[in-house]
Amino acid sequence: MRLIASVDESWALGQGGGLLYHTQADVRHLRELTMGHVLLMGGKTFRSLPNGALPGRVNIVLSRGEYHAVATPAHVAHTVDEALSALEQYPDKEHFIFGGGEIYRLLLPYCNHADITRYAHTRRADTFLPRLDGLPNWAKMSQSLWHEEDSLRFCFEVWENANPLRIAGKRGII
Ligand SMILES: NC(=O)c1ccc[n+]([C@@H]2O[C@H](COP(=O)([O-])OP(=O)(O)OC[C@H]3O[C@@H](n4cnc5c(N)ncnc54)[C@H](OP(=O)(O)O)[C@@H]3O)[C@@H](O)[C@H]2O)c1
Repeated sequence: MRLIASVDESWALGQGGGLLYHTQADVRHLRELTMGHVLLMGGKTFRSLPNGALPGRVNIVLSRGEYHAVATPAHVAHTVDEALSALEQYPDKEHFIFGGGEIYRLLLPYCNHADITRYAHTRRADTFLPRLDGLPNWAKMSQSLWHEEDSLRFCFEVWENANPLRIAGKRGII
């Protein structure tokens, strides 16, 4: 299971229900990594998507509510166990934890890999990713060259967790 997120120097993810930064290069990067695979996201992140479920990918939404109409995701899971059961229906695809803050916090210990877009900026934020550099098992494995778009500087980092928790041990616990 892998995590994908864009953060800034403070590991900030979002503010007021939206993203902090937007670049075409990051959209392309996210699309290239996730196309054809499975995304697991929280209800707040799903509701923040301008056109609903992301096309070409299985969208699984963890929510205590219901979803109707045009933007129906492939699956609505009401518990973490249900979300994991939905993921298990796609054993041949990559499983991406897609955010936001609550869902990252829940599932971070079970991820073995994180694709992080790092913006070299700091903005006011209300949602944060736990700092991977403060967690004992996580290490940065690579970092791309710096890019610039619309006065935003950013790079792509790959992090790995040397000791992820096994999903099987978690069922029924969260
Ligand atoms: N920078 C990035 O890469 C990135 C990526 C994704 C999101 N974001 C940002 O992150 C922010 C949203 O994050 P967030 O932490 O506020 O919300 P979130 O993690 O997207 O979603 C939280 C929601 O998930 C559902 N949920 C959480 N735990 C659950 C459980 N145990 N059982 C059932 N449902 C559960 C609930 O949905 P319901 O409310 O539907 O019941 C809850 O309100 C936004 O600003 C968004 O733009 C940033």
